[in-house]
Amino acid sequence: MSAPLATAPAAPAPVPAPPIFKVDRLTVAFPERGGTEVAPIVDFDLVVEAGRITCLLGPSGCGKTTLLKALGGFVVGRDTGGVVYRGRYLTEPTPDIVMIFQEHNLFPWLSVRGNVGFGLRHSPGEPAARRARLERMLGTVGLAEAAGRYPHQLSGGMRQRAAIARALVTEPKVLLLDEPFSALDVTLRRRMHALLRAVWTETRTTMVMVTHSVEEAIVVGHRVVVLGGRPASVLLDVPTEGAAYRDRYDPAFLELQKRIESLIE
Ligand SMILES: Nc1ncnc2c1ncn2[C@@H]1O[C@H](COP(=O)(O)OP(=O)(O)O)[C@@H](O)[C@H]1O
Ligand SMILES: [Mg+2]
Repeated sequence: MSAPLATAPAAPAPVPAPPIFKVDRLTVAFPERGGTEVAPIVDFDLVVEAGRITCLLGPSGCGKTTLLKALGGFVVGRDTGGVVYRGRYLTEPTPDIVMIFQEHNLFPWLSVRGNVGFGLRHSPGEPAARRARLERMLGTVGLAEAAGRYPHQLSGGMRQRAAIARALVTEPKVLLLDEPFSALDVTLRRRMHALLRAVWTETRTTMVMVTHSVEEAIVVGHRVVVLGGRPASVLLDVPTEGAAYRDRYDPAFLELQKRIESLIE
C-alpha cells in the first residue's frame, strides 16, 4: 500500500463541451389557494453542457423537479425568461428530450420487449433496423434474457433498467432523470450507476439527473450542481471528472461528499 497522498490528485482538464441548455432568467410560479403563489425558481440561470452528465442535488422542496421539468419543456416559465435549448426557447416538450421518473411507469400489459419497443412506434427507419436497435438496447441494459417477461415479473432494478432502455431506444439528445434509483437498495443502486455510466460511454447522451444521494451525484456525474434556498440558487458547482470521483473511498471523493452534505443540511 502506498502512503496516502497529502493533496488530492489533480483532475484532468475538463474537455470543453458546447452548451445544450441555457437556463436564462427562468421563473416558475405555481398558484396557491387564496390567490397567492409559490415560486421555487426565480430569475434562475444555469448552463448545461452537451454530452455530459450533470447531477443536481439539494434539499427536498427546493425546486429540483421543477427545474428538470422546465428543461424538458413540461413546465414553461414566465415570459421574462426561460430555457434555451439548442438556441431556441422551449415552449413545449420535444421528442429530443425524454424524462425518467422515480416510478418506472412501464405499461403492465406489455412485456419488456413491448415496453422498450413502444418508444419506437413513431420512429422512422426500416422495421428490421428498428428491431435490431431494440435488441441492442435490451442487451445494453442486460435485459435480453428477460425481454419476454412482464413488469410484475421483474425486480425493481430490472424495471428501472427497462424504463431507461425505453427512454434511450429512441436515441434522444437529452435524458432527464428524476431520482431514478431512490426506490432501489444500495447494492442495486450501485449497479445502476455503473450501468448508466456504461450507457453514457456508449451513447454520449446528455443527461441531467436529480438525486438526493450525494454519493450517487459524485459517482455518476461529470459535474455536480448543489441547489438551495428559496427561491433556489446554485450553492456549489463542481466538476467531478477524473478517477478520484469514480472511487467512493478516495480522499478527494470523501472530502467533496462531506462538503456537499454540510451545505445541504
Ligand atoms: N404543480 C405544482 N403546483 C403547486 N406547487 C408546486 C407544484 N410543483 C411543485 N410545487 C412546489 O414547488 C416547490 C418545489 O417543488 P419541487 O420542484 O418538486 O422540489 P424538489 O424536487 O426539489 O423536491 C415546492 O414547494 C412544491 O410544493
Ligand atoms: Mg423532486
